[in-house]
Amino acid sequence: MSEIKKLKLELKNLNAEYARIKTLPPEERGAFGREMNAKKQKILNAIAKAEEAAESENVSPIDISAPCAPNEPIFRPALGSRHPLMTELDRVVGIYSDMGFNVMESNQLDDEFHMFDSLNFPKEHPARDGYDTFRTSENFIPPAHTSTMQHRALKKYKKDLENGGQIAVVIPGRVFRNEDADATHEHTFYQCEGVFVSKDATMGQMFGVLKQFFENYYGQKLNIKTQPGYFPFTEPSAELLIERPSSLGGEGWLEMLGCGMIHPNVLKMAGIDPDKYHGFAWGGGIDRLVMLKYQLGDIRYFESGKLDFLEEF
Ligand code: DAH
Repeated sequence: MSEIKKLKLELKNLNAEYARIKTLPPEERGAFGREMNAKKQKILNAIAKAEEAAESENVSPIDISAPCAPNEPIFRPALGSRHPLMTELDRVVGIYSDMGFNVMESNQLDDEFHMFDSLNFPKEHPARDGYDTFRTSENFIPPAHTSTMQHRALKKYKKDLENGGQIAVVIPGRVFRNEDADATHEHTFYQCEGVFVSKDATMGQMFGVLKQFFENYYGQKLNIKTQPGYFPFTEPSAELLIERPSSLGGEGWLEMLGCGMIHPNVLKMAGIDPDKYHGFAWGGGIDRLVMLKYQLGDIRYFESGKLDFLEEF
């Protein structure tokens, strides 16, 4: 029998003996109780000691001859890092959400309705060809622009209009175009779409929002200008350009995005009355935005997986 078991048995017997106290004359009970308590305490101490000894017996001793490298770092730095485009995309979305815009994410596979019909592209219209869309054999479309999300955004936030508010949402996403790649064109890139609808939205508000966005993103005052554009989903349509300050390489004006007042048909298709509400929308490439910020010469680096490029960030 183990030492602990023996002691526990002794304790049990002692407790049984204790019961004898009732049979003793009252004047003897005090002395008996004190004697029993002292015995009990002795056994309890012995049990505690024996248990402690048993515990340390179970712990295997440290092998002090094991190899060790006290000068090696214990925590290795994580392998890999975030892609610079994702870091910048967070910054872009952060600026818009600070302005009060909601954020939705775009689909990476979409359909004819969201790519064209819901955006007021007439059936068989040549403007459809202008978007160089890829198609799957089932006729799904990897979106060629984030505008594919406009219809969904309008429907999702329509209730905010009905409650006396406004629709304000930005939608970053990955887009795909079936065109030849060169230093400024890539088959896969990122865009950020913006949609705003209220009772009295104006072009002026839109240019104010966009100027503010670019100034926040580049951290400096900028000149912007617009030129007419054509998109079936806006009327009027425009392109927005910024003047490159010398800190961003200088050399004149650069087109940054397409924009315009949302076409009444686009609002109508989402169930919004164009006589009551007006909206503006815009969409522009994230890659181009980042290239300008870091003075990068070739858009293809982003999708290349080149480690020496990625390690620069
Ligand atoms: N989707 C257009 C493109 O990729 C850009 C654009 C133009 C987006 C006008 C808009 C807009 O929302 O209103 O070329």
